[in-house]
Formats: sequence, C-alpha cells, structure tokens
Amino acid sequence: MVNSLTIVILAAGKGSRMKSPKAKVLHEICGREMLYYSIKAARAMSDDVIVVVAHQKDSVISAMERYFTGLTFVTQDTDNFPGTGGAMMGVQPKYQNVLVLNGDMPLITPKSIEQFLHSDADIVMSVITLDNPSGYGRVVIEKGHVERIVEEKDADNGEKAIQTVNAGVYAFKHNVLKTYLPLLRNTNAQAEYYLTDVIALARRDQLLIAPLYVEEVEFKGVNSKYDLAQSEMIMMDRLRHTWMDAGVIMQLPETIYLEEGVKFEGECVIENGVRLCGESLISNSHIKAHSVIEDSTVTNSDVGPLAHLRPLSVLEDTHVGNFVEVKKSTLTGVKAGHLSYLGDATIGEGSNIGAGTITCNYDGVKKYQTLIGKNVFVGSDTQLVAPVEIADNVMIAAGTTVTAGKYESGILILSRTPIRKVEGFFSKFFTKGKE
Ligand code: UD1
Ligand code: MG
Repeated sequence: MVNSLTIVILAAGKGSRMKSPKAKVLHEICGREMLYYSIKAARAMSDDVIVVVAHQKDSVISAMERYFTGLTFVTQDTDNFPGTGGAMMGVQPKYQNVLVLNGDMPLITPKSIEQFLHSDADIVMSVITLDNPSGYGRVVIEKGHVERIVEEKDADNGEKAIQTVNAGVYAFKHNVLKTYLPLLRNTNAQAEYYLTDVIALARRDQLLIAPLYVEEVEFKGVNSKYDLAQSEMIMMDRLRHTWMDAGVIMQLPETIYLEEGVKFEGECVIENGVRLCGESLISNSHIKAHSVIEDSTVTNSDVGPLAHLRPLSVLEDTHVGNFVEVKKSTLTGVKAGHLSYLGDATIGEGSNIGAGTITCNYDGVKKYQTLIGKNVFVGSDTQLVAPVEIADNVMIAAGTTVTAGKYESGILILSRTPIRKVEGFFSKFFTKGKE
C-alpha cells in the first residue's frame, strides 16, 4: 500500500468494439469480470480507489461489490461529457497524486502501477512501442518531449505510422487535472472529451511530462473479443504458474482451464484438459483428464477422467470415475466408478454406487433429496426415485427401481421382472422370413 495515492479506474464506456449487449468491463477473464482485476491491483496500492461508471452502472457496481467493500463509485455524465476526459470530470480525489487506469486493462499488476510513483514530473504517462499500433492513441514525441496524443480516429497517415502508443495509465498531480480538465473540448472525430488531450495542453504550458516505457503484456487494452481471449490466456498462464509454484502438479498445463476463484491445498495432480471453475477447492486430490469441476470441494479424492462435478458438490475420500455427473451432493468415502447421475444426494462412508445408477431427483416441478447411509451397495442400473432415504448396511440389487420412501438397515432391496425363457424362439424367428 502506498500512502497518499488516489487511483481512478475508468469503467463507464460501452465498449462498442466488443459487439456485445454486455458492458465491456463485465466481460470475464478466468471467471471474473475484467474490471475486478484492475480494482484488485489498485486496491493493493491505494486506500482511495474511485471507479467511474455510467453504462450499465447498476450491474457494474453490484458485480464489484461482490468482491470489494469501500470503493467509491462516481457516475459520469455521458450525455454531456462523453469520453475518458468526461469520465474524470466528476472525480474528487482524496490525495494530490492521482493515478488513472483504464478499466479495460485486466493484466495490470501492483508492481507495474508502482513504477509511476517514482517521478517528480507533473504527468507520468505509459507508452509502449508496438509493431502493430492499431487501435491505440499515438504518442507524438519531438526532441525527447511528449507533445501530444493523437487518437487513431483523428490521426493522419503520418501519425498512424507512429509505433509509440499510449498504454492508458497516467500519474497526474491533482492540480494538473483541476487546471486542464475544464479546458478539454470535444472537437474530434468521436465528439468526445479525451483525457489524452490534457497532455498537449500541459505541454503548451511547459509542464514536465515524463514518458514511462512499459511492457505490453501488463498494459494490454481489451477492446475486442479477440483481445479478451488473448488477455485470458496470459492471465490463466499466470494463475497456473502461481499454483504450480505453490506445489500443484499440472500435466500439459496449457490445456488446463483454471479460474481465479479456484484454490488448491496439499499435493494435487491436475491432468490435461481439465476445467476448474468458480469457487472450487481441491485438496490432496487427483483430477483426471477432461473432467469439469464447478464450485465444488474435493478432498483426498480422485475424479475422472471425463467426470463432471456441478456446483455445490462435496467429495471427501471418494473415487468418482468416468461419465459420472454429481450435482449438489455430498459423497464421503464413496466409490462411484462409472456412468451415473448423483444429484441432491448425501452418500455415506463405504458405499459403492454401481454403474448406471441414477438419482431421479426431479419430478418436473420440484427437486428431492436422496440420502444413502454407510456401507450401502447400490447395484448397477439402479434408479432412486427421490425422496429416498436408505439406512446403513443395505444392499440394492442391480436393475432395481427404488421408489420414494424410507428403507431400514440390513435389508436387500430388489425389484426385478421375472425372467421368461421361450424355448426355440431364436431359430424360429430368424428362419421365418427365409422360408
Ligand atoms: C484509450 C486512449 C488511447 C489509449 C488506449 C489504451 C483516450 C481518449 N484514448 O483509448 O489513447 O491508447 O485507451 O488502451 O483516452 N471510458 C469511460 N467513459 C467514457 C469512455 C470510456 O469511463 O466515456 C472508459 C472505458 O470504460 C474504458 C476506458 O475508459 O475502460 C478506455 O476507453 P476505450 O474506449 O477503451 O478507449 P480506447 O479507445 O481504448
Ligand atoms: Mg481501450
């Protein structure tokens, strides 16, 4: 945390290049809205984080309040003052040093913010040199001085050829903003008030503007769905790297999809093609190839290959094998090796779930619970028509439909249509047509 620093995050824009009904800053990277990441980085550096909102502001505010408390939200008057300069006009920073970040830069880190705070210049602005500068504002530097920023839509061909671009982070002295924001005009291709025009105004008055050369990998702006996917790849690589450093084994890590909310404990092995989502916690477990885990807790267990744990599943000392789907169920010391659906169920220690077992948890209107005790042997192809409660030490014969109700300890449950044998049927049936 740096003392006396205000950080303003601009998140009021529509993001029309995303071609989406959803506000740009709400598009997700590794399972969380991209704005979450810039606020997280800002929060590590400042106790005065101001987020400027307008487009879909209620959704943006409620999404961020799920993760953070104590943020200040300021609503931009986008009708009268559109643009990044307009966004700054209602902001009241607590401190003299004001760092401004675009809300579409999810890859920014506290370390990269820190670099802006070591200068006495009136303005420190981020610049990147790119082979392909398209989409960014070009920075006109003459004789070592930053003269102005020209937005792509206002640039002539000569300016478009400039490869030094504005990365979208600036450290201002509050006085500089107070002086120059009121002087901004919207006489440009987009009829917007550009924050970037502060640079030319300040330069005209001989203020000191220091360019800070930064790496694209932390300052990448997300303007399209392609950019979103690129940034997600970078973010996910960071997440995987962090967890591998913490002791998680990942096989072919680039094929593993991992979200920000997922946590690991102890020694975990994650095989290729696994998808780990939401607020899942994996402890001392082995997740085999191509399994999907959403908002679930897995402890001392092995899952997959090709298993699906849907939200609110809790597995402990359990084996879940291929083509098993578990939803909102707690399995403790259970073996469910193959081809099952276990939904709204609680299953106790030592129980074995045969292949093809289905909890029929839904009657078309309501969902019902299946409770299975300890040491219950559920034969293959069993249907449990919930609500069902089975006590400890019960055997269910293969192919049984267990109808709703309570079943006491020690019994065999069996429902089977008796076999009929029809002598000579085969040859009669298959010779009939040939006569
Ligand atoms: C901006 C810069 C450009 C820079 C680029 C870096 C301006 C005028 N241009 O362009 O020089 O190279 O970032 O990524 O600043 N926003 C508001 N209110 C608005 C408009 C935008 O809060 O009225 C917010 C958006 O939500 C977004 C951020 O400001 O988070 C940047 O807006 P965007 O439209 O992406 O600007 P760029 O065209 O990328
Ligand atoms: Mg942008």
